[in-house]
Amino acid sequence: MRFSLLALLVLVTLACLILGWWQFIHLERQRLIRRRDVLEKHVADLSAELKRKWEDLLDIKRGMDIPESAAASALQEVDVKRLDRLISDISDASRLDAELQRDEVAPIDLHKLVQALVTIGNEVKKDNVTIKLSFEGGGPERFKVPGHDSRVGQVVTNLIDNARSFSPPGGTVRVTCRRLRKEIEIIVDDDGPGVRPDAMEKIFERFYTDRPEHGFGQNSGLGLSISKQIVEAHGGRVWVENRMAPGEHGGDPRVLGARFVVRLPAM
Ligand SMILES: Nc1ncnc2c1ncn2[C@@H]1O[C@H](COP(=O)(O)OP(=O)(O)O)[C@@H](O)[C@H]1O
Ligand SMILES: [Mg+2]
Repeated sequence: MRFSLLALLVLVTLACLILGWWQFIHLERQRLIRRRDVLEKHVADLSAELKRKWEDLLDIKRGMDIPESAAASALQEVDVKRLDRLISDISDASRLDAELQRDEVAPIDLHKLVQALVTIGNEVKKDNVTIKLSFEGGGPERFKVPGHDSRVGQVVTNLIDNARSFSPPGGTVRVTCRRLRKEIEIIVDDDGPGVRPDAMEKIFERFYTDRPEHGFGQNSGLGLSISKQIVEAHGGRVWVENRMAPGEHGGDPRVLGARFVVRLPAM
């Protein structure tokens, strides 16, 4: 009797171990499949973008009625910057996924971090745009989130850089950190043209870029997609809204500017 009870116990323990092991393998397999899908999509997007750029270059070259060598050197000059930017952004994005999974999460002092980034932004002042910062909903100790400080900093910098690039000359970008009950919002407002309703989702896709000074500039179209990836890895959300003013004399409402909102779980 005692023997069969012991055997039963051993059997149950073994069954539990096998079940646990099987579940672990199953989860690990799913994680690898997800990672493979992300990588595949990334490579597909990348090659499509490189192909588009290459065709753009060929089009420009065909349209230029200048000697072969002069055209080649002009193209090289305008595109080296863009390619350089594109390649460094791509290599940054490809490290991101692994880094966010691997590295330890630590408390981030958003009060300090955002203040430092705004100070640096105002010191650079390359475009005569001023960045203003305010905090709502509590003292500095209420602005802590768990995460990767350099990556969250990268999100704030991306949003500020975009906002200042769309601001009118001498304009202001307003950054507001707001403590909600269980979350913290970082809001970046500008007085630019805002975002077209049909582009509100698209702007977060890889390589989407739509700027008035379009061409082979400084913009890879990766800033917002990287930001979204970082925010979601922190369990948060990012979205864009347009700030509106009611229309005058019964006319249509007017866009006052864009508002980007990042919402992160607070500590
Ligand atoms: N503050 C803003 N106001 C209006 N449009 C914006 C703003 N920020 C981003 N966008 C739109 O989203 C696009 C994608 O932004 P992003 O991913 O940072 O790429 P990039 O800055 O390289 O163009 C921009 O090209 C622009 O069309
Ligand atoms: Mg950008």
